[in-house]
Amino acid sequence: MTTRPKVTLIAAMSIDGFIAPADKEALPSTTWTSKEDWQFFTRQSKAIGTMILGSKTFETIKRALPERRMIVMTSRQEKYSEFQDPNLIFTGESPEEILSELAEQGVKEVALCGGSAIYTLFMQQDLVDELVLTVEPYVFGQGIKLFAERLEQKFSLMKQEKLNEAGTTVFFYKRILEK
Ligand SMILES: NC(=O)c1ccc[n+]([C@@H]2O[C@H](COP(=O)([O-])OP(=O)(O)OC[C@H]3O[C@@H](n4cnc5c(N)ncnc54)[C@H](OP(=O)(O)O)[C@@H]3O)[C@@H](O)[C@H]2O)c1
Repeated sequence: MTTRPKVTLIAAMSIDGFIAPADKEALPSTTWTSKEDWQFFTRQSKAIGTMILGSKTFETIKRALPERRMIVMTSRQEKYSEFQDPNLIFTGESPEEILSELAEQGVKEVALCGGSAIYTLFMQQDLVDELVLTVEPYVFGQGIKLFAERLEQKFSLMKQEKLNEAGTTVFFYKRILEK
């Protein structure tokens, strides 16, 4: 059996655990996420090479990001037929199916890039090995939470890296499997 790729969840969030504020019109991501985090995300996702994201997150980007393969999860592949880039794949497959195909292609790691529905789906199926969480120094009070369901998994902090003077910090966690 081929080993599935390592799954590294990458997200930017507020201090209080939201990946998007309730009113995205008033506070678009370009205003609360830092330039340094975008640069960090770009480096990290390029180094990993393959991204998995949900269609709602793709709708916020609406293009192929350079030097990465993007696998967009959707039940409506036909809606995206206008996108003909070979590095942009729209699929209705399950997380297990996607990871098993990638393993057969020799892919060793994927970046799980959200949003909340997709993060939660992979976590529920126990498919997330590492978390790379950028905490931006904002509080939203309300918004889209990193995870949308009850979960119970243990992680260990491997390292942290401050990205700028405002205090934007990336935390790297590894999954701990309890016996
Ligand atoms: N701060 C961050 O780091 C970060 C990162 C990513 C996203 N975000 C934010 O998160 C928000 C989007 O998150 P979200 O939870 O609403 O949506 P999402 O996770 O991006 O996408 C949800 C969509 O994924 C598809 N999907 C879900 N389960 C599936 C399955 N089992 N098989 C196939 N397709 C499946 C469905 O698409 P169809 O309806 O097309 O079938 C569903 O509507 C946006 O506001 C975005 O800006 C923030």
